[in-house]
Amino acid sequence: MSTFKCIGILTSGGDAPGMNAAIRAVTRSAIYNGMKVKGIYRGYKGLITGEIEDFKTQNVSNIIQRGGTILKTARCLEFKTQEGRKQAHETLQKEEIDALVTIGGDGTLTGARIFAQEFNFPVVGLPGTIDNDLFGTDVTIGYDTALNTIMECVDKIRDTASSHDRIFFIEVMGRDAGFLALNGALASGAEAAIIPEISKEKDQLSDMIEFGLRSSKNSSIVLVAESEVTGGAMGVAERVKKEYPNFDVRVTILGHLQRGGSPSAQDRIMATRMGVAAIDALLEDQRNVMIGIQNEQIVYVPFSKAIRNEKSINRDLLNILRISSI
Ligand code: F6P
Repeated sequence: MSTFKCIGILTSGGDAPGMNAAIRAVTRSAIYNGMKVKGIYRGYKGLITGEIEDFKTQNVSNIIQRGGTILKTARCLEFKTQEGRKQAHETLQKEEIDALVTIGGDGTLTGARIFAQEFNFPVVGLPGTIDNDLFGTDVTIGYDTALNTIMECVDKIRDTASSHDRIFFIEVMGRDAGFLALNGALASGAEAAIIPEISKEKDQLSDMIEFGLRSSKNSSIVLVAESEVTGGAMGVAERVKKEYPNFDVRVTILGHLQRGGSPSAQDRIMATRMGVAAIDALLEDQRNVMIGIQNEQIVYVPFSKAIRNEKSINRDLLNILRISSI
């Protein structure tokens, strides 16, 4: 069993609904276990500049229901340099922080991994990203809320799509992963999804049209994952305008509204479980691991595995989408 006097907590990268629930759980679990907590603002940037505040249980009151992150967040280029990380380490020493909990996505955990190794410093990560692209966890904090937001938006767009007999290409986030697009399509009853994972294998647009998109319906909704390989919704729509000039096409890019809003019950519960597990992991002397959830059970996933970009899409879902949209 390890003992820590003081832990630091930060959120970094793109914000995700449920990050506040995680901050709350980490803070309270650390205090419950006799540790001090320091909140580090603006991710790794605050670690470098020393923007840090002592956190008591009251600092995290009334935040479980709030989207965004009370600790603010940033994408910090300086932390990618050795000099930046050295300054961050000096801040930790000055503040007498013995361990760090970082909440964020791929970039955050990559930074955490390098830092932990370079300075032999205990770091535990929580998967906080709407993209759901971290290996070793069934879901990430924020993903469920973003999916629900997408579903609500698509429901609304469908009203106008069907009134005008139009095809809508709706672009959703996900960086290089298609989880939001594919599951968003299933949840909203969309006709198809275009995702990066299979972009190189087949021409998803032609395939979709050959399969009969528009043959039995007057309006259609296609979710397109943002990404260079899919071409995004604009790219796909441009192609359709050229190749199928009879289709009445519109594009909607959902953008950052997918990142906002009050977290769903699932995200709040998961973030709370993972937050408590982060402190358990530190006490059990786990280092350089991300907390994940697999089949409802908490697991520790080495950073090196979590960030390897190996989380695969369940391909059965593509078929289910196809069958359910005829
Ligand atoms: O990683 C979360 C995410 O929302 C991605 O889906 C998206 O590609 C990216 O962040 C957008 O980042 P930013 O808010 O910095 O433009």
